[in-house]
Amino acid sequence: MAITSGWQAPAPTVLARPRTVTILGSTGSVGCQTIDLLEREPGRYQVEALTANNRVDLLAEQARRLRPRYVAVADESRYRDLKDALSGEGIEVAAGQDAVIAAAERPSDWVMAAIVGAAGLKSTLAAVRRGAVVAFANKECLVCAGELMMREIELRGATLLPVDSEHNAIFQVFDFERREAVEKLILTASGGPFRQWDRARMGQASPSEAVAHPNWDMGAKISVDSATMMNKGLEVIEAHHLFGMPEDRIEVLVHPQSVVHSMVTYVDGSVLAQLGSPDMRTPIAYALAWPARMATPSQRLDLGQIGKLTFEPPDPERFPALRLARDALKSAGSAPTILSAANEIAVESFLGGGIGFLDIAEVVEETLERIPNAGLKCLDDVHEVDEAARRVARAVVETRT
Ligand SMILES: NC(=O)c1ccc[n+]([C@@H]2O[C@H](COP(=O)([O-])OP(=O)(O)OC[C@H]3O[C@@H](n4cnc5c(N)ncnc54)[C@H](OP(=O)(O)O)[C@@H]3O)[C@@H](O)[C@H]2O)c1
Repeated sequence: MAITSGWQAPAPTVLARPRTVTILGSTGSVGCQTIDLLEREPGRYQVEALTANNRVDLLAEQARRLRPRYVAVADESRYRDLKDALSGEGIEVAAGQDAVIAAAERPSDWVMAAIVGAAGLKSTLAAVRRGAVVAFANKECLVCAGELMMREIELRGATLLPVDSEHNAIFQVFDFERREAVEKLILTASGGPFRQWDRARMGQASPSEAVAHPNWDMGAKISVDSATMMNKGLEVIEAHHLFGMPEDRIEVLVHPQSVVHSMVTYVDGSVLAQLGSPDMRTPIAYALAWPARMATPSQRLDLGQIGKLTFEPPDPERFPALRLARDALKSAGSAPTILSAANEIAVESFLGGGIGFLDIAEVVEETLERIPNAGLKCLDDVHEVDEAARRVARAVVETRT
């Protein structure tokens, strides 16, 4: 089967002045790690804008340290608090979803898209539409609106740099000049905290057990996604859009050490991989300094000490979310959008103590069954499907709580 057309690797641009940067979701796990890197190279970066949802204290503290021109909080009720916290600092302050989009529209060279979930779609798209270099952490954007997003990237001449460690790894070893030589992609997965749990025990898992990832320190939603392996399913869809590979040529392998971040198999049998310690600052730094490289404090790999790297296939019985995501990708149309929206609702309910861990995949499956698949022609279609899926998923959740 021919490789479907995919995104072309961008031509690197080297700037002679500090790179101006905007961080959408600066208070999150990826956002804070991006700031950690920025602060290690003062003078090389200038911050244009920072945004958060409602964590005003942290946002204001970041703003005082980094001196952005503009900060926005999505939750309008937090405007006064943010305004007061930054009073006299000479920093423009705004609130509301439109204010977050306005942050993305401001003229920075580089944008980190690190808002979690479909809430980041409009602002990420705004950055893409002005042709920025966009570091993509927010995988849900590509899952719920992948084709539209990739079309916009091509149309607007934006540059997309994958931040997810797996896709960043593939980006580093993928031969964009000879795409026909790529046979398949192999995404590695840690297996999450429940890799060795049986289903009965998984059914009793608490939110705090689900977010306790063995290797990575991440936000709550992605941590639960890792525990269900929905995260890997979302990543299969993400890889399909980023690298133009069909679903049946994207393999998933459980690799508990999280050292090999992903691999590309070529037609001659060569397999190229990117390795590193499990620290998101490495892929973030790759995107931040691209096309150059910057030093990071990430722990250096000591393979002699690690001794053994192991790999195993994922268990489809205990982790049905992976199959659901693959089926959604094969169905195409609105199925991935429904999958992602229903998953957000289910994870939110699980974290709030509403449903059990095993209910998450079941809520997603039932929502997919209840909503007929349809084509997505424009962004309005995506929003409509996203909202409908959330409504149905909430109703399904209700029946289980
Ligand atoms: N964390 C990782 O290591 C990692 C690795 C690979 C990929 N990713 C992806 O990167 C994205 C971010 O993950 P994360 O772990 O950094 O998430 P996180 O820690 O939960 O942070 C999410 C960020 O988005 C903001 N936000 C949440 N809802 C929002 C809304 N409705 N409008 C505007 N801003 C909103 C949050 O603001 P508040 O702080 O004010 O709530 C926060 O700044 C996700 O798509 C995830 O899958 C993360």
